[in-house]
This record gives sequence, C-alpha cells and structure tokens, in this order.
Amino acid sequence: MKFRTTPYHSHLLNDTDRLSVFYEAINECDLDNKELAYDLGCGSGVLSYFLTDHFDEIISLEIDKKTFNCAKENLADFDNVEVVNSDVLDYEFTKKADLIVCEMLDTALIDEEEVPVLNYAKRFLKEDGKIIPQGIINTVELAHLERHYLHWDEGVNYETLSKTVVYDEINFLDDIEPDFKINLKLKAENDALLNGLKITTYTKLSDEIIAGPMPMLNPPLLIPLEERHIKQNDFINVELKYIMGNGIESIQTKYL
Ligand SMILES: C[S@@+](CC[C@H](N)C(=O)[O-])C[C@H]1O[C@@H](n2cnc3c(N)ncnc32)[C@H](O)[C@@H]1O
Repeated sequence: MKFRTTPYHSHLLNDTDRLSVFYEAINECDLDNKELAYDLGCGSGVLSYFLTDHFDEIISLEIDKKTFNCAKENLADFDNVEVVNSDVLDYEFTKKADLIVCEMLDTALIDEEEVPVLNYAKRFLKEDGKIIPQGIINTVELAHLERHYLHWDEGVNYETLSKTVVYDEINFLDDIEPDFKINLKLKAENDALLNGLKITTYTKLSDEIIAGPMPMLNPPLLIPLEERHIKQNDFINVELKYIMGNGIESIQTKYL
C-alpha cells in the first residue's frame, strides 16, 4: 500500500525495523475481544492500517491538520476506520477500547506526549484491555562526548565510560508520574574525562517483543555534564531530573 505523508512521517515509514516491531505486536496481540482500538497520534495512519484486519472498529486521532488529511486519504477504503483531527486531550471519548496503540515515543518519554496522553486516555480502556507499546526500560551510562551539548545519537563519536545500568522501567497500564528524579551511582571503568551521560530506551512492544533504539524510535540521548577527570573504579553520583512530556529543555543534571 502507498501512503501519502508529510516529510517527517515519511522518515517514520522508512524506518522499516520500527514498522516491523509494531506490525508483529499488533498481529500477535492476544485479546478475547477485538471490538474497538484507538490509534492515538496516528500520523500517516500506518499503525491503523495494521489494525484494520483485526478490529471491528478503529478510531484514529491526529492533532496535526496536514497529517490528518494524509491519514484520512490513506485509510479512505477501510470502512472500519474513523480518522479524527483532534488533540487526544480534547477528544470526547464515548466508548472503552480493547486496545490502545500510542506511538508518541521519544527517548525516556521526555520530548513527546506519550505520558500525558496515556495518563488521560487509558481511562477509556476496558479492564482487560491492552496498550501497545506496553512500556519502556531506560538505561544510563557515563560518557565522554565529542559534542558537548544535548543531542540524539547520530553515530557521531562518543565513548561510554561505565557499565550500562537500568534506572527506570515504566508499564503504560500504571498511572505515570511525569516529574522524574533519580540519584545515580555509576562506577567508572577507566581513567577518563567525563562530560556526559548516555540514556538509552528499550521499547516493550509486548511480553515477547522488546525493541532496542532505532533511528526513528528512541535513538539514545547524549546529555552534557560538567567536565570531571575520573579514575577507574570511582563511583560517580549524579542527580538526573526531567519531566516526561515537557521536552528535553526540562532535563537537569548535577553531581552529588
Ligand atoms: C511519532 S508520530 C507517530 C505516527 C504514527 N503513529 C506512526 O507510528 O508512524 C506521533 C504522532 O502523534 C501526533 N500527536 C502528538 N501529540 C498529539 C496529541 N496530543 N493528540 C493527537 N495527536 C498527537 C503527532 O502529530 C504525530 O503525527
């Protein structure tokens, strides 16, 4: 099937690994009832398209008018899909769904609206309903960055200086507190100049499918820290704070 898209959604469509994991999770989704699914932030409509074979009814919400127009055109031949141009937070839900699909992901859920949207929309999920993705796992490492400013990993040189530590796990069925703060204790693996943290997010599509970072799905985030010379086996204590859904400007770090 050919999709009409905006340039941004065309990049999302071209990341075929990203599409594959969603396709598998939707195909393998084990639910007793498959009456209604919501696709929140449907973009080009590609995930709604994956849902069309499985659900009696799909309601697909998209905030951006141009993107909504593309999705409406792309899904015009499917009688079981209704595409609505609306902010999820303003939409008047009238029915509870068996499944919510919501791909408003970004590394550690900081820069997109996954958390505020799901905190609101999951009250319109049936008791035995499911969410795809199911949640995320965040890891952190000490790093030496060549670019000493906040950026996503685009393969530009940096070096990690500690083992990878899981610092947070989120299940999307739980209510999620957007204000996040943690005191990290990370052990240096060698003598080095420390000037950053690397955060990596793994996406739990389902119990069986966990996806690592991809170009258009949670690429690792590199966060600058004040420069400090560290020695092998030093413990480095850092406070990491951010607000999920409030953008990368909300990230703060300090040595403890
Ligand atoms: C990362 S894209 C994913 C698009 C599509 N689901 C896909 O997987 O290719 C997230 C989409 O959510 C939309 N979006 C963001 N916040 C929204 C909100 N509050 N209500 C509705 N749509 C929203 C964006 O405009 C964007 O199209």
